[in-house]
Amino acid sequence: MSGEKSGVTAALETVLQEGEVPAHVAVIMDGNGRWARRRGLPRWEGHRAGMTAVRETIEGAVEAGVAHLTLYAFSDENWFRPSMEVEALMTLLQEYVRSQREALVGHGVRVTVFGDRLRLPEEARQAISELEASTEGGTVLEVHLAISYGSRAELAGVARTLAQRCLEGELAPEEIDAELFAAELLTRDWPDPDLLVRTSGEQRISNFLLWQLAYAELFVTDVLWPDFTRGHFFGALVDYRRRERRFGLVKT
Ligand code: FPP
Repeated sequence: MSGEKSGVTAALETVLQEGEVPAHVAVIMDGNGRWARRRGLPRWEGHRAGMTAVRETIEGAVEAGVAHLTLYAFSDENWFRPSMEVEALMTLLQEYVRSQREALVGHGVRVTVFGDRLRLPEEARQAISELEASTEGGTVLEVHLAISYGSRAELAGVARTLAQRCLEGELAPEEIDAELFAAELLTRDWPDPDLLVRTSGEQRISNFLLWQLAYAELFVTDVLWPDFTRGHFFGALVDYRRRERRFGLVKT
């Protein structure tokens, strides 16, 4: 067994032995461009290499017993990247669906996608719908892919829906509270993330789940996304164990 392998096994054992595994981990997968640049490769090669890290992270989440994993795959702002890169990302998405569907079903993973899917090309939309349908029976891990997603747009959408309900007389403005608001979010069916992992060293939220991350623990690693392995994922879970979550309350 290699040193790396035994380190990974030890990290997983620590995660499993010590109990509390976060129910929901969200990940900002960053650093694909830098990974490619350092190798003199085009940016899309970084995104392609990032697919291996997606697989590693999903398998790691299954092994550790995480129930929900949310991955920020394509943001609202990513539409403004050069068209060649956007096209490459859309193609990769379809490639990912084709190549991973069987493995995801085999692991008992259910995939759901959230974001403005109407902006996606027809083939990408179709690939996503097929993936959601074929993994519908998965009960081991729910993977939520944020695609064409921006948190401010999501929050504005909630405000619009609630305003409309008020206009229609179904709701009074004073009835609107945090619970009612959260019930209109795209993520309303899942618990809020307990842990946010961001790769490549940037310490930003980047318009990702602004409401839902209110009490999440943050874990930033310098590792670039394509180099991220399940060992790194277990490391984040071990680190999470050491956090004392207070939810704004006083320590007793
Ligand atoms: C950020 O790196 C990453 C993205 C914009 C896309 C993430 C996509 C993948 C990992 C591949 C496909 C994923 C799925 C789920 C099919 P960046 O380009 O901003 O990197 P940089 O900050 O180094 O430039």
